[in-house]
Order: sequence, then structure tokens, then C-alpha cells
Amino acid sequence: MGCIMKVLVIHGPNLNLLGKRETKIYGTLSLAQIDRRITQRAGEQGFEAEIFQSNAEGDIVTALQKAAGRVKGIVINPAAYTHTSVAIRDAIAAIDVPVVEVHLSNIFRREEFRHESLISEVAAGVISGFGAESYLLGIDAAVARSCSISLPRGSGVCPPSSCWARMTSRIGRMTVRCAARTSASAR
Ligand code: DQA
Repeated sequence: MGCIMKVLVIHGPNLNLLGKRETKIYGTLSLAQIDRRITQRAGEQGFEAEIFQSNAEGDIVTALQKAAGRVKGIVINPAAYTHTSVAIRDAIAAIDVPVVEVHLSNIFRREEFRHESLISEVAAGVISGFGAESYLLGIDAAVARSCSISLPRGSGVCPPSSCWARMTSRIGRMTVRCAARTSASAR
């Protein structure tokens, strides 16, 4: 059994225009450049990033539903749907996967209509205002959250190496056995 742990990153509407769109607020990095950083950060933590962008609310709902049982964590920038979408909120509430809500801008320092998020109440946490770094912090948070979920014993699921240190302090001997299994399956 493979040991690839996945984290799903969802970019909402208009984020395909990053780099050209309102650069004073959102910065000059394109979505492709941000995605490369996301892939790298996830890889450093032993995770594979699966990245999806859509301008359509229903497609985001479908992506969330399909992620259940398949990925260890989700990082989502719902963009304008943050402030309007009951459907995305309900999809997040319906799945048993930790979801980190991220925003490039600090939505609380902007227009009043952006201060309300329908998503935050069902998210594991929120990161807002650090530009592209928000996504990377989101990956770190999703990984940390998934590492805190105990390993299913005997399931053949291996923890990413970034989880080992944390697990050593929690469950000692079991970590050693998992580490041995990981290196055996890597051969
Ligand atoms: C955003 C903030 C939203 O209010 C806005 O509609 C976006 C981007 C952000 O990343 O800062 O499209 O989610």
C-alpha cells in the first residue's frame, strides 16, 4: 500500500486572475506561481497537494464531497463565496475532513460585507491577510491537524515523515514500527 497522503487545495472564483487582478490587494504572483509554492510546501511535509480552481459554486461543492475519505486535509480560499455560499458551508459541514479557510487579504480590514464568512464556523481554522503565504500556512495547519489524528492500527497507512517527531512524543513504540514499515515499502 502506498504512503502518499493528500491535501486538497481549492481556489474559488476569480483567483485564476491572480497576478493581474487588483494587485495592490492580492499581490503580483500568478495562481500558477502560488500553486508551485503550495506543491513544494506540501512535498516538504510528506504530502501531495491536489489543486483545483473553479469559478462555479457547484463545482466546488462537488470537489468537497469527492474529497471525503480520499484526502487528509483541505485548504480552501472560497473567495467571494466566503460571504455568500450556504452550499459550500453545508458541503464542508457534511464531510469528515479538517478544512482550513484561507484568504490572501485580511478580510477584516476591508469592506464591511467581507467581514462575515459563512465558512469560518465550519472550518477548523482561518488564516487571512498574509498574501500567498496564507496558503502555505494553511498547508502547515492542515498537515498539523491531520497528524493529530491517530493512525489506524494495522491499516497499512503510513504517516508522512513530518508526523513522526510529533507522534514519537505521543505514542512512542508505535512510531518506530510505522517508520520501519514506511522504509520497507519505499524499497
Ligand atoms: C479573498 C477575499 C474575498 O473577499 C474576495 O472576494 C476574494 C479573495 C482573499 O483571498 O483575500 O476573491 O478570498
